[in-house]
Amino acid sequence: MSDELERLEREATDKLESISTEDELATWYRTYLGRQGEVTSAMKGISQRPAEERPAFGQAVNALRNALQEAFDARQDNILAASLRKRLNDEAIDVTLPGRLPQAGNLHPVTKMIRDITRVFGLMGFQTVEGPEVEDAYYAFDALNIPQDHPARDVWDTIFIESDQREIVLRPHTSPMQIRTMEQVDPPVRVVVPGRCYRYEALDATHEWHFHQIEGLAVDTNITMTDLKGTLAEFARQIFGQERKVRFRCDYFPFVEPGVDFAIDCMFCEGSGCRVCSKTGWIELLGAGMVHPNVLRHVGYDPDEYTGWAFGMGIERIVMLKYGIEDIRHFYQGDVRFLSQFNRVLA
Ligand code: DAH
Repeated sequence: MSDELERLEREATDKLESISTEDELATWYRTYLGRQGEVTSAMKGISQRPAEERPAFGQAVNALRNALQEAFDARQDNILAASLRKRLNDEAIDVTLPGRLPQAGNLHPVTKMIRDITRVFGLMGFQTVEGPEVEDAYYAFDALNIPQDHPARDVWDTIFIESDQREIVLRPHTSPMQIRTMEQVDPPVRVVVPGRCYRYEALDATHEWHFHQIEGLAVDTNITMTDLKGTLAEFARQIFGQERKVRFRCDYFPFVEPGVDFAIDCMFCEGSGCRVCSKTGWIELLGAGMVHPNVLRHVGYDPDEYTGWAFGMGIERIVMLKYGIEDIRHFYQGDVRFLSQFNRVLA
């Protein structure tokens, strides 16, 4: 074999030894065995040789090509096997690792509280009903003993939808469902009404322009203030703990007489006075009272035969008090970090 071929063989074999990637392998093949490669051009050089050397030279080049092809095949097998091994290693899944649970969605804390409260009243015989959020001012105000010119009408900062022929509003409270319910059925009535309400309001830590209330209404013969006190005390103890003390004070709402505000002793300081209860020891939960005779008359109930009581509370406020939430705006910002905290504490 000529020196030239020997040199070529040594060089090609050495290079092949040092190759470790598929790319390098392809380059090597092009350089030595490809159509423009060195072995091929050596073969072409045969015509420059003296005639008697040609057969031996041709054989030597062929032998070289076969040897290099064999070496290449072996090297390629090696490299492909190594890269397959690496891929299998890199992409391997350890099936013995514990799985990752997908994040499950959950009910909103307000929805959960509505369910808790309606369950408590359900056990005391109250049906849950719902009503329209877009409401006629007759139901939102007039039938509730709050006529057009009544100054108290301003208390419910209302969002109006129409005010030409009829006044149509986004209900500022759930009280209109008292009227709608009593229009539909004869006494006895025992309902609770959860639902969304709206007010024309500047937002701050305790005011939202949309929020939720639960209304309660009981009408029957011989319904008294005592029933109201017992029912609300039971509700407060179910939601805030059996040891709660309750307080009723006079308050004014046009649709009840007498009207009361209902409070519980502060569960954070047990009545000794703290930031949550503004140092008073008491936390006001809701407004209530004996249904005003004018309201009963509006729905055709005889106030001499029937009496009743009603209450209304803001649900966000109840959730805030129960879990020490300081800003009502958290409820509607959709921040999962806030919302997911309730996954465990509320059923
Ligand atoms: N509707 C009242 C409000 O939004 C709350 C309320 C007070 C409802 C007294 C009642 C009640 O049924 O008797 O502020």
